[in-house]
Amino acid sequence: MAVDLDRIGRASLKELGDIRIDDVLSFIDRGIEGDIDFSLDRQDWLESDELDRKATMWSHRLFFNGEERVTSTLAPFVWAAPTPEIEIFLSTQMVDEARHTVFFQRWWHEVVGTGAKSLGELLTEIRPEANEGYNILFYERLPSTAQRLASNPKDFDAFVEGVTLYHIVIEATIALTGQRFELEAMREQSLTDRGFYRGFTAIARDESRHVSFGIKVLQEAVHEDPARFAPLIQKTLVECLPLISGTLDPPDPRYITEYGHTESEILQYAFDSLNKRLRAIGINLAA
Ligand SMILES: [Fe+2]
Ligand SMILES: [Fe+2]
Repeated sequence: MAVDLDRIGRASLKELGDIRIDDVLSFIDRGIEGDIDFSLDRQDWLESDELDRKATMWSHRLFFNGEERVTSTLAPFVWAAPTPEIEIFLSTQMVDEARHTVFFQRWWHEVVGTGAKSLGELLTEIRPEANEGYNILFYERLPSTAQRLASNPKDFDAFVEGVTLYHIVIEATIALTGQRFELEAMREQSLTDRGFYRGFTAIARDESRHVSFGIKVLQEAVHEDPARFAPLIQKTLVECLPLISGTLDPPDPRYITEYGHTESEILQYAFDSLNKRLRAIGINLAA
């Protein structure tokens, strides 16, 4: 009897109790092809107009390059983890970020099409150009914080600042806002059966998990020593506020208005989300 690999791939832990190990090992013969199907996405792409393509590329360049940046800078956070529980969580997060990067790599190859021969070449090709907020955040602040942790893994202030930057500014505020608006726009256009919609929703689910972790780490730090950590988190956020709006600012306002939204609405959503997270951590920005 043919082995139902899809059933095994989707099985819950409970259902795995009914599956034989020899059937699981059949995955070896399938190879490492993923199960996301971009064929409808490719069709949409071929039928889309210039503005649509430009708007999508703008957003996906930020996401693709951003996923690679957060993958490459997370290892020092793992070395600097103050407890084994945090070390284990961050190790799982690193795998998530790598998977997100590969998702965009596949989307680029299968939907947009590219002559790039390697991931490195493709990342150079898609690097978001002329976005100052993004460049400072992802090419200066994030790597320099990671470098501080790499040089001194015992620097817990650097760890708190890093989690504020990584989990609260980048993931909770910028990434989840962008994901929310793009996925809602696809849902309004009845595109929920597209490979991108499904994969990106799975990514948003991972990101939510990362954000909950970040909130918990900062909450505990503030609870333990409010005088030391609250001002540190506040200072990092205040410095990052212009970078948040700078990253979400499109080079052409039609990339947002064409889809029934305004830039101020998106920024409002981003800052409302940020404030919600801060309330959960136990601080406010009125400092
Ligand atoms: Fe990610
Ligand atoms: Fe993440």
